[in-house]
Amino acid sequence: MLMSRVISHSHVPRTPASPFPYSSCLSSSETIISSFLTRNQVTYTRSLLMPSILTARAAGRNLNNADGMHDSPEIFKLDGSGLLKASSKREMSFWSNKYVLGLTTTAGIGGLLFGYDTGVISGALLYIRDDFKVVNDNSVLQETIVSMAVVGAIIGAAAGGWINDVHGRKKATLLADVVFIIGSLVMCIAPDPNILILGRLFVGLGVGIASVTAPVYIAEAAPSEIRGALVATNVLMITGGQFLSYLVNLAFTEVPGTWRWMLGVAAIPAVVQFIFMMFLPESPRWLYMKDKKSKAVAVLKKIYDSNRLQEEIDQLEAASKQVSQFGKAVSYLDVFKSKEIRLAFFTGAGLQAFQQFTGINTVMYYCPTIVQMAGFSSKKLALLLSLIVAAMNAVGTVIGILLIDRCGRRLLALTSLSGVFASLLVLSYAFYLQSSNLHALTGSATLGSGAGWFAVAGLVLYIAFFSPGMGPVPWTVNSEIYPEAYRGVCGGMSAMVNWVSNFIVAQMFLSVVELVGTSMTFLIISGVSVLAFGFVLFFLPETKGLTFEQVERMWKERAWGNDLASSSGQQNIIGNET
Ligand code: BGC
Repeated sequence: MLMSRVISHSHVPRTPASPFPYSSCLSSSETIISSFLTRNQVTYTRSLLMPSILTARAAGRNLNNADGMHDSPEIFKLDGSGLLKASSKREMSFWSNKYVLGLTTTAGIGGLLFGYDTGVISGALLYIRDDFKVVNDNSVLQETIVSMAVVGAIIGAAAGGWINDVHGRKKATLLADVVFIIGSLVMCIAPDPNILILGRLFVGLGVGIASVTAPVYIAEAAPSEIRGALVATNVLMITGGQFLSYLVNLAFTEVPGTWRWMLGVAAIPAVVQFIFMMFLPESPRWLYMKDKKSKAVAVLKKIYDSNRLQEEIDQLEAASKQVSQFGKAVSYLDVFKSKEIRLAFFTGAGLQAFQQFTGINTVMYYCPTIVQMAGFSSKKLALLLSLIVAAMNAVGTVIGILLIDRCGRRLLALTSLSGVFASLLVLSYAFYLQSSNLHALTGSATLGSGAGWFAVAGLVLYIAFFSPGMGPVPWTVNSEIYPEAYRGVCGGMSAMVNWVSNFIVAQMFLSVVELVGTSMTFLIISGVSVLAFGFVLFFLPETKGLTFEQVERMWKERAWGNDLASSSGQQNIIGNET
């Protein structure tokens, strides 16, 4: 059953009801619970409490009543207003822990490579065509050069997930760097288009592995109250990387060897990341699950003070017991056999697909083309507008970082999708106007025509709404909704869905425009954004501020209902449906 079940209210203290379903746009941990109670009734309250029960069980305490809600006051307490409070304060701020920030920035170089590589090729291709006549004459060859990196990313994301679970996040990052460096250098010295394509494949593999590893590595080191902001920082590196690639494209236009430099310089951040990663530890959660507990605790000590440290260790201990009780080799098939993992994967992968099918990369990859379609024939203006759009995308991501742990993932995604829907309608209408103008004028559209500016406004509006929400939310959610043992495999498959969708959209956009016209194409994408809104509304749970154990518990409840889930404190993490 996909929707949560609502349980009896009898044991659960009610919070003051909020008339506004999204009143959770406040920062304290209590309001998380308050908003859950008002929006989703009391379903998640038990989820929030269950880690305390597991912790108590792990400590061998005896819980008297059926669900244990009254018996863990040392973990969750009621304050005067009837709100539930965690025992230790979860109030770390984004800037307060330099170690976590350093780790995030280093891991985020993976995001930078992702963004740079997806952005740089459009500019580089212009010069590759000048150097290789065969490429210039053959559009299939051009498409292969562009899309081979995405093919590599699809494979890299799928394999990278498994590598993450079996060999750890650190080794996965180092491997991504090595593959990326090889790919960049191969492209830089490529004597012919075939070698260039091989280099693109390598770079894509590296980007694919990084796209799954960086969010998971960051999320696992992050205190739960700032996890969203830290993972979204990796998305800022993606959008920053795209912006940087446009600047580099401009900077190298006059330099001999243009495209070789454009593609080759990407090796530098990968080398930097490789060196820094050597000094960073493996993810503490992965270490703990692999029974390297003292190493894990040594890392956790750098992140938490002593009170909080004990709580984190208790939770990890309870979670690792579950994993080892039922632990077996990580397998892709388990994702589909286990109901709770299947539900989580459905949500995570659905979000990734909708991120792409709501058209972000039609804007990022085809922005200059769209601007020209809107009637602005100057190449320079088209490129300048693309640069502005890329910059706005990065600035919008910063707003997402500021909001994601305050407003939560759901509100951010829903608001983002509403704005995306409206701006796609504006775009569609602008192109409708422009095509009627064209008919009326029986010639080319005039530069700066009303419809053209209308389209530019639509683009700007689109980015302003997409970037804080549907940009960071899918990556963040996918880094936090899977159980420990499957975080890599599920995150990897889900990232693969993102890359496959990216590939489909990028390949199809121009053909669909040819077939049904630009206005209709944007109308279709706006229809997809309505579906995406419904998907988020019905399937995406709020994970703001929750620990991994609380999130895991919540999926169990969704899958098995409350009673089964509570008896499955000891239930199979791979809860085969018996
Ligand atoms: C997406 C990329 C996209 C980028 C745009 C990311 O979150 O996954 O496909 O190009 O945002 O900023």
